[in-house]
Amino acid sequence: MTANKTLLFLPGDGIGPEVMNQVRRVIDWMDKRRSVTFNVREGLVGGAAYDAHGVAVSDEDMQQAMDADAVLLGAVGGPKWDNVAREHRPEAGLLRLRKEMDLFANLRPAMVFPPLVGASTLKPEIVSGLDIMIVRELTAGVYFGKPRGEETLPDGTQRGFDTQVYTDGEITRVADVAFDLARKRNNKVHSVEKANVMESGIFWRRIVTDHATAHYSDVELHHMYADNCAMQLVRWPKQFDVILTDNLFGDLLSDCAAMLTGSLGMLPSASLGAADESGRRRAMYEPVHGSAPDIAGQDQANPLATILSFSMMLRYSFDMAEDADLIDQAVSNVLDSGMRTADIMQDGMAKVSCSVMGEALVRQLEKLAA
Ligand code: IPM
Ligand code: MG
Repeated sequence: MTANKTLLFLPGDGIGPEVMNQVRRVIDWMDKRRSVTFNVREGLVGGAAYDAHGVAVSDEDMQQAMDADAVLLGAVGGPKWDNVAREHRPEAGLLRLRKEMDLFANLRPAMVFPPLVGASTLKPEIVSGLDIMIVRELTAGVYFGKPRGEETLPDGTQRGFDTQVYTDGEITRVADVAFDLARKRNNKVHSVEKANVMESGIFWRRIVTDHATAHYSDVELHHMYADNCAMQLVRWPKQFDVILTDNLFGDLLSDCAAMLTGSLGMLPSASLGAADESGRRRAMYEPVHGSAPDIAGQDQANPLATILSFSMMLRYSFDMAEDADLIDQAVSNVLDSGMRTADIMQDGMAKVSCSVMGEALVRQLEKLAA
């Protein structure tokens, strides 16, 4: 039996808790198979943490996240907290986790499961077989750059400002992740910025180019402006393998790429820190979708993105590719069987609830493992 892994669950707000409950079913199933045992702790993040502690993540939960082998997060935010002070708003909890755990590499795969080709708003031939990986820098850039704020100038003019800033080390460490992934995939990286208008974009392009020349001359490298990338993603997404980009452009482009697949409800993500001497990386996994307050608590949400995030955890944190493949296959099979949650509902399919989807997934796992 593999050593015990300590996981921290942060279900968060909205549909977060209900989708996380379906992952618990998968974990229970895995515990029974005894390939590994998980010690699952639970904490609060986002509005749920604010309601309990007055902050978007407490110091105790922050420490648990730092100590865990991996964190699984549901979703944060909702209209209930619209008027909460900026530093305590639900998103601040997520940003604190990313920053303090130093999770600089955000992996957002966008792949189309064959049975869902018709769920995309794009033509089937454009998206069928699509499999791209967006590597978004997650702890620097304009999200964290200083100075930032609002001020009134002596002449009474008011202004608001943020700073887009990257150091060479912040670029090369996330580039390493992108190039390493590309080597295991189709060996192609598109580095995306706005070097035509931004100084930091010119800098990004130069650092990536020099780094690639020195260390990854075997990987095909392309450069693309972010606006063109958004357009190319909907025009001909299969030209991409790995997209390497900064925090803000990565936020935008990953939402765009997500819709190619038919639903945000299908997309997992991994956020990774640097490896220590033992090879262990701090890591947090979360579905790309948000808290969907409009359907929260109604057992309607799609749990598959969170289940696929757990599968990414097995793959990237625990080197359990076989178990991850099994879960991915079970997701594919459950879709093949015709079950759909509301977000991916298609004509002739059976609409099911979040919990029924979770149960069906475990049944598929049982079949596959039999
Ligand atoms: C994401 C989200 C977050 C971001 C928000 C919730 C702070 O949009 O993970 O893509 O902007 O990074
Ligand atoms: Mg986003």
